[in-house]
Amino acid sequence: MKIGVLGAGLMSDALATRWAGAGHEVLVAGRTPERAARLAERIGAGARHGTLREAAAFGDVALVAIRHEGVLSTLRDAGAAEGAFRGKTIIDCNNPVEVGDFTLVTPPGTSLAERMQDLAVGSNVVKAFNLCQARVWEMTPPVFDGRPLAVPFAGDDAASNALARTLITDLGCVPVEIGALHRARHLEAMAAIVIGLLHGGADPHTVFNLITPVAA
Ligand SMILES: NC(=O)c1ccc[n+]([C@@H]2O[C@H](COP(=O)([O-])OP(=O)(O)OC[C@H]3O[C@@H](n4cnc5c(N)ncnc54)[C@H](OP(=O)(O)O)[C@@H]3O)[C@@H](O)[C@H]2O)c1
Repeated sequence: MKIGVLGAGLMSDALATRWAGAGHEVLVAGRTPERAARLAERIGAGARHGTLREAAAFGDVALVAIRHEGVLSTLRDAGAAEGAFRGKTIIDCNNPVEVGDFTLVTPPGTSLAERMQDLAVGSNVVKAFNLCQARVWEMTPPVFDGRPLAVPFAGDDAASNALARTLITDLGCVPVEIGALHRARHLEAMAAIVIGLLHGGADPHTVFNLITPVAA
């Protein structure tokens, strides 16, 4: 598939490199054009760079990987309010978490993902990839103790969720659908806990591991 990448930082680098390696076409854009150009060159595999509006128009899917304070303004600059993402799937990996006290910056009862959905008229946002560090997404594939990484995702639209499943599977991971987009609130809150644990020197595996899966 064709994937427009908004953001030229660590997450875009990790995910777009893996997707390009899996045969997808990638166009990278960001606030700093030189950084986007450098990233496209590093990704190789025919990856291109362009403007935010070109990234929005490029494919059926757009990854948005921007520091949380710039996510909505970046979408606006890409033309989200005028329908630049109409009919497209937006993959939101962003964490609206203040590093310092590790709290959500979003008001209670909503999520960054839902605010993105409201802004990007006609799009379908899927929240995914926000729970693991960029270094995990660089792994080929992310496997721990012989088990592939499971990736929870949330979205309202069946076709967009199917695209997210494909993109997760292409990383060698296992997709886990957790419900509609409002469930992004929980994924974002979970990230606040995980990031706090990591910054505090704790090993999140020892917090979240279960001895045996709970039967369905
Ligand atoms: N890094 C991780 O391990 C990780 C893991 C899971 C989720 N996330 C989430 O993924 C997103 C991207 O993280 P990252 O580590 O890739 O970030 P990053 O490397 O710091 O930068 C990503 C992009 O954000 C842009 N940016 C920063 N502030 C901006 C602003 N105010 N307005 C517009 N653009 C701005 C940067 O542009 P410039 O090049 O111009 O600075 C860059 O293109 C974040 O929301 C983060 O919470 C990160």
